Amino acid sequence: MTTIRQSDEALLPALRAIEQSAAQAFLQIPELAWLAQGDPMSARRHREFMRLGTEWVALDDAGHAAGFLSAEPAGSALHIWELSVQHSHQGQGLGRALMQHAIGHARARQLSSLTLTTFRDVPWNAPFYARLGFEVLPEHGMETRLASILQDEAAHGLPAAQRCAMRLALR
Ligand SMILES: CC(C)(COP(=O)(O)OP(=O)(O)OC[C@H]1O[C@@H](n2cnc3c(N)ncnc32)[C@H](O)[C@@H]1OP(=O)(O)O)[C@@H](O)C(=O)NCCC(=O)NCCS
Repeated sequence: MTTIRQSDEALLPALRAIEQSAAQAFLQIPELAWLAQGDPMSARRHREFMRLGTEWVALDDAGHAAGFLSAEPAGSALHIWELSVQHSHQGQGLGRALMQHAIGHARARQLSSLTLTTFRDVPWNAPFYARLGFEVLPEHGMETRLASILQDEAAHGLPAAQRCAMRLALR
């Protein structure tokens, strides 16, 4: 059974190692393989999420951290900044469990939605979120917050045409 709990300072090295390992998934997609060489999120950023109480880890059967989700409240939304599962543990339900935990957290806080940005056509990105109920937001009329995240990503080399913002409305 997957255990989800809040992350803490002691997990920092593990979180950064998980993110680097997770990115190995992109080696399957030649034009995105370069993402496997990227730097993981800074310790400073992880600490911000920890302070907010919106970063969770998934533990494997042996009790080791094997995945994490980092989020941040943004107005009435909970924005998902990162979701990573160690490469050796992918496809075993940890990513879905982390996302369902974040959705439960947002519901309990009576937030109105969850948002994220992702790759439109990578099988474990937008299609996975769509199965959880997220919808791709049209670029026209997109709220400034999400449009500027997409712009920042493009400025950092992510292929803009393949990226999208998604939203899960909570009712
Ligand atoms: C995205 C990620 C966190 C999902 O975690 P996971 O533990 O592998 O996911 P799960 O086992 O819970 O599976 C989630 C869904 O993705 C699908 N999926 C996972 N790996 C897949 C793969 N290699 N190919 C196709 N689909 C895949 C599963 O079929 C599953 O779909 P379902 O739950 O609707 O049936 C993980 O693949 C990862 O770390 N990827 C690299 C980093 C990344 O892309 N992060 C997200 C950035 S937006």
